[in-house]
Amino acid sequence: MPGYAVIGGQWGDEGKGKVVDFLAQEAQYVVRYSGGNNAGHTVINDLGEFALHLVPAGIFWPHVTCVIGNGVVVDPDTLLQELSVLAKAGVDTSRLIVSDRAHLIMPYHVALDRLEELSRGANAIGTTGRGVGPAYVDKVARVGIRVGDLLEANREEVFLPRLEHVLHQKNAIITKVYESEPLDLGALNQKCMEWGERLKPYIQPSEVVLQEALARGENILIEGAQGTLLDIDHGTYPFVTSSSPSIGGAYTGLGIPPSSIVGSLGVFKAYSTRVGGGPLVTELLEETGAKIRELAWEFGATTGRPRRVGWFDAVAGRYSVSLNGFTSLVLTRLDILDHFSPVKICTAYELDGKVIHYFPSSVSALERCKPVYEEFEGWSQPTASVTQMDKLPRNALAYVRRLEELLGAPIDMISTGPHREETVVNRPFIKG
Ligand code: IMP
Repeated sequence: MPGYAVIGGQWGDEGKGKVVDFLAQEAQYVVRYSGGNNAGHTVINDLGEFALHLVPAGIFWPHVTCVIGNGVVVDPDTLLQELSVLAKAGVDTSRLIVSDRAHLIMPYHVALDRLEELSRGANAIGTTGRGVGPAYVDKVARVGIRVGDLLEANREEVFLPRLEHVLHQKNAIITKVYESEPLDLGALNQKCMEWGERLKPYIQPSEVVLQEALARGENILIEGAQGTLLDIDHGTYPFVTSSSPSIGGAYTGLGIPPSSIVGSLGVFKAYSTRVGGGPLVTELLEETGAKIRELAWEFGATTGRPRRVGWFDAVAGRYSVSLNGFTSLVLTRLDILDHFSPVKICTAYELDGKVIHYFPSSVSALERCKPVYEEFEGWSQPTASVTQMDKLPRNALAYVRRLEELLGAPIDMISTGPHREETVVNRPFIKG
């Protein structure tokens, strides 16, 4: 029963899209389990460059079935738009399944996300404004509307009263708390009917599909979204996303048993980035940061916001490895560091005059932490486009080996450029 999880080890944007696209050649299924269209997974292939927000990055392989699992929150307009872009590029999108248990992101969630952020003022989280947080709030408050509800046969007596109840609540908040415009029930109901019609061919009980695939021994590649340090429980709360991007979320977000995931691959960028607010201990606020941002084009795939940039944080990285039990690691964007000397790794923090080696849970403690760095001489030859481990420059290899030591897991793959073939595979992740 082989499931293989690919999970962001940092604050998202680690390059999971490319890694999943690369590994999908050996999988029968590629599945998403958490988050929504706050994610932006970039895939570059023969058909062009795509920023996928909801559709799993395996969609480009004709032999792969893609699944949006129950743990994902789905904005139907975004999904339909993405499907139409893919179809125009010649991709067969009939190989997509959307869980009937996945929750919908409704227009009132998007409105509330923006209004709540505005009201936070200087304490804004810096959300992507896609309604993801408010949709998960409703799921937990048991007033969410699910993808399967769009197909409710008894519309007038079952679906409409629920929609009316929740919209009444939301409009009260939108108008009274935020003094903004209410949403119209009739228009929303109409939208839901259209969404139901258009999404019907894709909607299925995805957990059953996946359990059957596991029973047949097929490979399921599990595509994480965001990153472990944005996890609602384990991340830098409250500067986190509202789901569990770490491995725990994969079991509940797909409805498959823990024994089915036989490998977990942590994706780490060779340096750190984060979008939005919250602590980033190794943040580079001066020239080096700006240079990395420009060279690597570190601007959000979803919002276009400039990403904050820092050196690799091995304290945070080790914490992430231990939370997920990564069996294997992939290092991405190593080629960006070709342009720097020295290159630094943060190996410990100094907190209130003491050196610590753990990742504090409190944001205010993290904000007081100063990085303790180990420096590495840069490498004179580029790593860009290298495809074999023994072709890496000696100093780049020393950097990789030290990261392995600090993180406590093997770096089995290295991405040296945006294209599929710009990949070093030291040990295959998917077995057989
Ligand atoms: P939300 O998920 O839109 O509620 O945003 C919460 C936090 O997670 C913000 O700091 C976002 O910038 C961050 N975030 C959400 N999705 C991603 C992602 O895919 N990559 C990087 N950061 C993300």
